[in-house]
Formats: sequence, structure tokens, C-alpha cells
Amino acid sequence: MTDFDARKLRSAFGRFMTGVTVVTSRTQDGTPVGFTANSFTSVSMDPPLLLVCPGRFLSSYRAFAGCERFAVSILAEGQQEAATVFASSKGDRFAQIAHSVDGHGVPLIDGAIAQFSCRTHSATEAGDHLVLIGEVTDFETGEGRGLGYADGAFFSLGLERAARDPSVRRNMCGVIPRYLDQVLLEPTDQGFRLPMIETPARMGLRDALAAHLADRRVAADLGPVYSVYEDQSGNTHYAWILADATAVEASSGLIPVPVADLPVTRFATAAMGRMMARYATEAATRDFTLYLGDAEHGDIHTYSERL
Ligand SMILES: Cc1cc2nc3c(=O)[nH]c(=O)nc-3n(C[C@H](O)[C@H](O)[C@H](O)COP(=O)(O)O)c2cc1C
Repeated sequence: MTDFDARKLRSAFGRFMTGVTVVTSRTQDGTPVGFTANSFTSVSMDPPLLLVCPGRFLSSYRAFAGCERFAVSILAEGQQEAATVFASSKGDRFAQIAHSVDGHGVPLIDGAIAQFSCRTHSATEAGDHLVLIGEVTDFETGEGRGLGYADGAFFSLGLERAARDPSVRRNMCGVIPRYLDQVLLEPTDQGFRLPMIETPARMGLRDALAAHLADRRVAADLGPVYSVYEDQSGNTHYAWILADATAVEASSGLIPVPVADLPVTRFATAAMGRMMARYATEAATRDFTLYLGDAEHGDIHTYSERL
């Protein structure tokens, strides 16, 4: 086996911009199953074939490996919530997201920009994934633009245009993932940064972060908000949430840095460096406070205060 750095390979694969789909089927006993996938590819016009790659790690893997039929819904911009629910939510995912069923009883996500009903053409094991090829037996096309995914974060063309407009505010949410006596950080050319994403317009911060971590195969329990501030220009709003990571895969792209080293660690922004130095001090006693302010000045609150 070629001994690549799994982290680097994962991030190199993640450089490819994709759309986002929800792939659905039913188990033998009729229970609907589905997961978020960006491995969708159109394969052939004649016969009409498409493919998706369910991972072996999916709880629904066996259902997809043995299914006679499945469906693919291509999500529209604004459907981050569906993407998040089908990437991370435990329990009945279908109870949370509006859907209908195709002529064979396979669920389709409402509001998707395209829906394909498929008969399984072939299912080939390929390493830790399955290449599931379906023959399209029916499809529908909807209105609007698709939801995008690149570098571990959702994007949409509408939002990207807005992001380039300096008069438009951006909301970022991030997590401070503690793992044993370490914090998991992402290396960048400017220094380390914490895992963060743009807060989607219609989804809660916690759900969005949970999906982001699930996609990186980091299992974490999200805790309280630790810090909320505006950057110097006042255009970007940051909210940081404490988290306890319970399992981290090497492919997550995150590097464990000892909490004690945080005050001397180079961070991508000065505000993040100051926040993490405060974190290191407070982590010693686990007596965390809440910071509310801007990148330079703010107030420290204890959690027992009424805010
Ligand atoms: C944008 C995005 C794309 C994903 N693409 C895939 C994929 O192509 N194949 C896959 O197996 N998992 C993919 N995942 C991860 C699964 O959606 C996630 O692991 C799954 O829903 C977990 O389901 P389970 O809790 O039932 O095991 C993706 C996640 C995200 C957020």
C-alpha cells in the first residue's frame, strides 16, 4: 500500500468542488435510509447511468450494498439543513426533512434541483467505498441553483457573490475541539486555525458544525459557546463553541496541539491567538468564561451570570 499522509490526501481530494446530493434507499424490512454524498457522477447517456460511492463506515452500508433500487436528490442552494441532517443526525432523518417517494417507494428530497430514481446496475467494492452504479428509470428537474461543497465547507454561488461584496456581513462559526490534553487544529500557510465554516443562512450553528465534523470523521460532543466577536472590519462575525472530541481519524486533516503549547502557537489571526491563550489558562481549571466583543476588546462573562 502506498504510504501517503491520509490527511494530505483527504484535503487534496477535498479541493475538488462538487455539488451535494442525498442518496436514499430502503432496507429489506422497508426502513428508509439515506446519507449525504458528494461522490455523485453522471456516467452514461445510453443507457442512462450515474454513480455514487457509499462508504463502508455508513450505518446503512449493507442496505446500499444489497439494494435493488436507490434514488439520488441533488440539493438546491439553501438546503444545507438537509445536507447536515443526512450527514450527521442520529435518529429518524426522514422525520426532519420534507420528502416524498418515487413510484417504487424510495424517498426523494423535496425541493431538490434534480431527483433520479435508479435500478441498481452494479455495485463494486473499491477499497473502503462501494461504487454503486444506477440505471436511471425516472427523473425530475427542479428550479434554482445547486448547493456546492469544497474544502470541507458548503457554498452556493449566490452566497459567494454576496461574500465578495464588502457591504455584506459574513457569519462564521467554529469549534474548539479538545481531545485529551490537546486541541485539534488545522495547519494553514498563515499559521494554525480552528475548524470553522460559514454559518448557513437557514441552519443552526450547532447542526452545521456537527455536519462539518462528521464529514471529517471527528466524533465530538458540542458544549457551550466560548467566544463571540466581530473582526476588525466589522464585516465578519465569529462564534466559537467548545467541544470534546471522542474519536478522531488520521484523515481528519487536524493536528493535535497540547493545550499548554497554545499560548506560543502561531495562529492565522491575532484574535484567534488571543482567544486560544485565554483558553489555555482557563483549561487548567476548566473554569471557562464567555468572551463577547470585537477582535480587540471585549468583556469576559462567567457562565453563572445572566447574560
Ligand atoms: C458534503 C458531504 C459529502 C459526503 N459524501 C459522502 C460520500 O460520497 N460517501 C459517503 O459514504 N459518505 C459521504 N459523506 C458522509 C456521510 O454523509 C455520513 O458519514 C453519513 O451520513 C453517516 O451516516 P450514518 O450515521 O448512518 O453512518 C459526506 C458528508 C458530507 C457532509
